[in-house]
Amino acid sequence: MYKLYLIFNLFLGCYSTNEKLKEVYSWKKLDFVFPSVAVRESALKSEDYIVENNLPLGLDIWEDKLFVTVPRWKSGVASTLNYIHLNDSSSSPLLTPYPSWEYNQLSTDDENATSHDNIISVFRVHVDKCDRLWVMDTGLADILGTASQIKPPTILVFDLNTDTLLRKHSFKDSDIKAKSFFANIVPDVVPENCNTSFAYIPDLGEYGLIVYDWLNDDSWRVEHHYFHFDPLYGNYHVGGVNFQWTDGVFGLALSAADKINGSRTVYFHALSSTNEFVVSNEVLKNKNASSNSYYDYKLLGSRGENTQATSSYYDETSEVLFYTQVNRNGIGCWNSNKPFTPENQALITSDNETFIFPNDLKVRNGNLWVLTDKMPVFIYKTLDSEEINYRIFMASVEDAIKNTTCEIA
Ligand SMILES: *[C@@H]1O[C@H](CO)[C@@H](O)[C@H](O)[C@H]1NC(C)=O
Ligand SMILES: *[C@@H]1O[C@H](CO)[C@@H](O)[C@H](O)[C@H]1NC(C)=O
Ligand SMILES: *[C@@H]1O[C@H](CO)[C@@H](O)[C@H](O)[C@H]1NC(C)=O
Ligand SMILES: *[C@@H]1O[C@H](CO)[C@@H](O)[C@H](O)[C@H]1NC(C)=O
Ligand SMILES: *[C@@H]1O[C@H](CO)[C@@H](O)[C@H](O)[C@H]1NC(C)=O
Ligand SMILES: *[C@@H]1O[C@H](CO)[C@@H](O)[C@H](O)[C@H]1NC(C)=O
Ligand SMILES: *[C@@H]1O[C@H](CO)[C@@H](O)[C@H](O)[C@H]1NC(C)=O
Repeated sequence: MYKLYLIFNLFLGCYSTNEKLKEVYSWKKLDFVFPSVAVRESALKSEDYIVENNLPLGLDIWEDKLFVTVPRWKSGVASTLNYIHLNDSSSSPLLTPYPSWEYNQLSTDDENATSHDNIISVFRVHVDKCDRLWVMDTGLADILGTASQIKPPTILVFDLNTDTLLRKHSFKDSDIKAKSFFANIVPDVVPENCNTSFAYIPDLGEYGLIVYDWLNDDSWRVEHHYFHFDPLYGNYHVGGVNFQWTDGVFGLALSAADKINGSRTVYFHALSSTNEFVVSNEVLKNKNASSNSYYDYKLLGSRGENTQATSSYYDETSEVLFYTQVNRNGIGCWNSNKPFTPENQALITSDNETFIFPNDLKVRNGNLWVLTDKMPVFIYKTLDSEEINYRIFMASVEDAIKNTTCEIA
């Protein structure tokens, strides 16, 4: 940890661009640690690696690994689940496939395609307090092209100490609807009893939530009106692109466990919405409650105009909820000790160039990490590979909220 601290300070000294969050890494385009130069050459030739089609999207941190996902929006993604060593002194490091190169191969055309455990396409990952990496594999490749569902949506959980697969759970037919899309995964873990874990997977396309019960290796679907998008807030202006999205429940964050009975508040919001809602995790964890729990879900409040958010994260130490601000090129926060009103939301950082589409954020070891990637430009136009397109920022939570309404009173 001491070593990491020194490394962070080095980065802070070197790449200071933003007032509050410091740019740690940036890329014009992504490159990977291939098994060999020859494999890289042949992947380029066969178009298994099309450089400009590789867009980073999700991030998380465990010890000296910074995980970066690269979903298969288009063909030619070299590897979907990757990491960077935090000791890497390059400002644009290569991505190393996790847990291996083989795991990240599509292998649709060999006889081992179904028997071999591979990862098709990942949007977000989540490290838990039991040293496990939760991975939501959509199973869907080349989304914007031929869109082939190679496998059903599948949860993969890796042991970070051994880099081995602990669990694989494919969603059941009853979990999935025609336009289901699973881009996020949030584990609910009691560190003292890792075997009784749950995970929540929002279905942004069909306005539901999948609950995964680790102990019973079971999953089920929960639905509620509050998982839907708000038709007044589906319009976006990002990076010079105007578009409309109907994405429902998306960001989901867990409060600290209640000291007496261990329950947690689950904060959630649809992407195309400016409202935040809450429900107790006891409701989600009870498979029998799903059909009779309408009144257990509550409106927490509105963040105000133009505050659509993708990912969110609740930091138990500061008791602050952080969230991305996609229409404002920035990061927002709210201190959970205050009423949830627009006045009590702070825009802690905003930059019309470097913060175009903040896509994921996490708090780890007291530091807020953010990935920005100009995704709407990638989807609706084309990125200029001579410009910096992808960035990862970091700041201590303390610095991030200083002098804002989120600051600890
Ligand atoms: C970073 O750490 C990893 C794992 O400890 C090691 O394999 C690698 O060589 C290190 N890289 C640098 C640049 O020090
Ligand atoms: C299929 O798996 C077997 C056993 O793991 C291996 O020997 C063989 O090379 C694989 N075939 C392909 C085409 O990857
Ligand atoms: C957790 O589950 C593992 C594997 O099923 C088992 O070996 C272990 O004893 C369990 N631990 C507890 C605390 O129940
Ligand atoms: C646990 O505590 C919370 C907060 O006090 C309360 O709302 C909830 O009803 C409690 N749950 C149970 C099962 O007692
Ligand atoms: C759910 O209902 C089933 C069947 O009625 C029952 O066996 C089970 O104990 C219930 N589970 C919970 C968590 O209440
Ligand atoms: C960023 O863009 C928005 C919308 O175009 C504008 O209102 C705002 O003033 C800009 N901010 C800066 C710092 O240029
Ligand atoms: C906070 O405000 C104080 C007083 O206005 C100022 O001196 C300080 O630089 C500010 N800190 C940050 C991190 O903005």
